[in-house]
Formats: sequence, structure tokens, C-alpha cells
Amino acid sequence: MKNLIIKPAKKITGSVRIPPDKSISHRAAMLASGASGTSVIENFLLSADCKSTLSAVAAFGAKVKKKGSTITVTGAPFSTPAKPVDCGNSGTTVRLLAGFAAGQGTGAVFTGDSSLSKRPMKRVTEPLKLMGASISCKNGRLPMRLKKAELHGINYTMPVPSAQVKSALLLAALGASGKIKINEKIISRDHTERILKLFGVRISAAAGKIRMKCPQALKACKIKVPGDISSAAFFICAAAILKSRLKIMDVGVNPTRTGFLRALKKMGLKYSLSNKRFLGKEPVADILVMKSSLRGAVFSAKDMPSMIDEVPLLALCATQAEGKTIISGAGELAVKECDRIEATYSELRKMGADITKRSDGFIIRGPVKLKGAGVSGFADHRIIMMLALAALAADGKSVIDDTKGVEISFPGFFKELGRHIKT
Ligand code: S3P
Repeated sequence: MKNLIIKPAKKITGSVRIPPDKSISHRAAMLASGASGTSVIENFLLSADCKSTLSAVAAFGAKVKKKGSTITVTGAPFSTPAKPVDCGNSGTTVRLLAGFAAGQGTGAVFTGDSSLSKRPMKRVTEPLKLMGASISCKNGRLPMRLKKAELHGINYTMPVPSAQVKSALLLAALGASGKIKINEKIISRDHTERILKLFGVRISAAAGKIRMKCPQALKACKIKVPGDISSAAFFICAAAILKSRLKIMDVGVNPTRTGFLRALKKMGLKYSLSNKRFLGKEPVADILVMKSSLRGAVFSAKDMPSMIDEVPLLALCATQAEGKTIISGAGELAVKECDRIEATYSELRKMGADITKRSDGFIIRGPVKLKGAGVSGFADHRIIMMLALAALAADGKSVIDDTKGVEISFPGFFKELGRHIKT
């Protein structure tokens, strides 16, 4: 437990560097673990979640070495781990690796912490079973048990937009026979499709139709991970609600991840992208947020996958925007590291926000001057960081109950924030 007192801030300034992308770091380490040769991954995110992936791939036989933020991973044929694989707090680790290991024909038992043990796993076990996997979990929750089996490709239409599920199936398909076809009604983040190409895999993905011949071998490669837009989003939000000018450097701007920028543009935020370039297959840019005034707007299901982790921040921005904001189609938030609909609603309300919750989102009226309060981060990294920003925009001091969780995706968050705020 690490309580934190946060005092209001007048503005936020300067140039911010944000941590490497979590989704891409997980994928790079996993694919490298099954590739022939040694892969070098520069600017790897050494956060608690990605460390869960590193120890998990080592348990399947890969050799992992760290030097600063560079990781080298020497792939090896997967072997069944002697002990249960503890995935900690990380949904991406367990869901993607379950698929990958199923395709590599190994057994495994996957476990996780108390939050991960409450999250739904049927979304991966059901389609993996359709591919021939022998995989089970009790009441759709961890522990998940995988037994050796031979897999074949399927033609699968995603019932919920989920990059984790899509990626689990693609990674499983690497060791399957035949062909895999995945159809998405709303496109979720496409890092897996992009990074597979770097590892030498032939795959096509266009307009929500992903096609891949199976099986395919992975070849080691060199990758540099861009900055994480979901971590940048905390600083974008801080600049928006403190009406400040702020630059955020080296951010991944893959369009399947930039929904929060598009949403804030609709609400009146002014920003520009410069120094646009590619790192591997991923677009990267510096983002300059300019002093702006926000107004309410309406968001629906089609807007959600590209900003799913940023919706609590969007709710906070809406408390500071003129008029009404409606967020719907965000039911997936209820099954993240905590129930983020409940957490966002209850804690912003304690701070005086005019917020109503629905089963799939919120209605928020603004602007409201938030009041400092004692709040709970629900041990969820993204809720803790969202509340820290709400506290900066509030009158009076706030206390967040337990801030250790930021280690999951953004080690050093409070230090970086402290460097840039003016009180
Ligand atoms: C992730 C996908 C998203 C996101 C999670 C990371 C990924 O989950 O919420 O933080 O790396 O694929 P879903 O794909 O389940 O929506």
C-alpha cells in the first residue's frame, strides 16, 4: 500500500518522454521466443506486465537477456513448463500465450493474480477449441489448463472486438494446419498483424479481413518499440484539462490506437503531429497539444476499440468540457483489470463530477470544478493514473489509496508527472 497525496496544479509544460508500448513489447517478446535465432528488442517496456511475459516465455524454453532497456530473446521449440505459468496482472500475457502455446503443441497451466483470476477467458478458450485445442478453465476463469493437441485453421467472426482474442488465434495458427480467416466488424489494434511480418510471416489484413496460411515459421529479427500512446494519453489528458501546451515525444500513432486523439479533437482539442516516421511497421510521431477548450460530444461502440484503455480518461475530460458527453458501447470496460465503469463512476463522483453510469458507458455533464477527495484506484494502473490527473484539476488536496499499480504499465509515472506540472 502506498497512499499518495496530490495537490492541485495550474498547468503542465515541457516535453515528455513516455514508456515503450506495452502491447508491442509483449508481442515482440512472445514471437521472438518461438523464432529461430536471437531477436534484439530495443526500448522494451520493463514494466510488471511485460516482465510477466518475459518470465512466461522463459518457462516455455526461450533464453532472455536484459541490458538496459534492450532485450535479447533466443527462441527455442516450446516445451511444457514444469510449473504453472504465473501471468500476474496481465491479460495480454495469458490470452496471447495460451494461443501461441496451443499452436506449438505444448501443455501448460496458466495462473494469475486476484484481478486476472476474475477476468473472462472463454473468449479465447472457445475459439481455440474450434481450432482443435484441448484447453479448459473452471467457470471461464483461471487457472487455465492446456494439453498437447494438433490445431487446424478456422474461419472466425469475432463476437467482441478484442485484439487479445484475435492475436491468440493468429499465434495459435502459426503452428496449425490449413488456413485461418478472422473477420472483425470493428477493427481492434493490429500490432500482431504488423509485427508478424517483421518475423517473416506472410499474412494479409485489410478491411477487417485477416488471412494467413498455416503453419508458418518465425525468423528472429531486430525491433525498436515506439512510445505507448496509452501512456501518452495521460499527458494528453493532463494538458487538455489544465488547458496547457505540452509536447509528447516518440509516440506510436498506429490508427487502431489513436481513437483518444480523434475523440478529443471532436471535443475541441487542438494538437499537431510532427516528425512522422516508421519504427518497423509502426507509425511514430511527436504530439504537440495546444491550449484548448473542450466541449461535450457523443461516442459509440465503433469508437471504442481504438481507445478502449483511454475511456476513463475521456470521462475525466468530459467533466471539464462544456455540455453533455455520452459514451456508449464501452461494456468491455467492465472486464478490464477492474470494473472500470464502476471505478470511473464512483471515484469521479466522490470528486464532485456530474456523471451517470450505464452498463456500457457514461453520461457526463460539464464543466464542473472537481473537489479534492480520498479516492481508490482499485489497484488498477489506469484508474490510479486517471485519478491523479483528476486531483491535479481539483480544488484542495486528494489522497489516492494505493498507487503501486502504476508499475504495471508506467513505472516512474509520478516522477515524470511531477517534472512537468506547475503548482
Ligand atoms: C491489448 C488489447 C486490449 C487492451 C489491453 C491490451 C493488447 O484488450 O485493453 O490493455 O495488447 O492486445 P482487448 O483486446 O481484450 O480489448
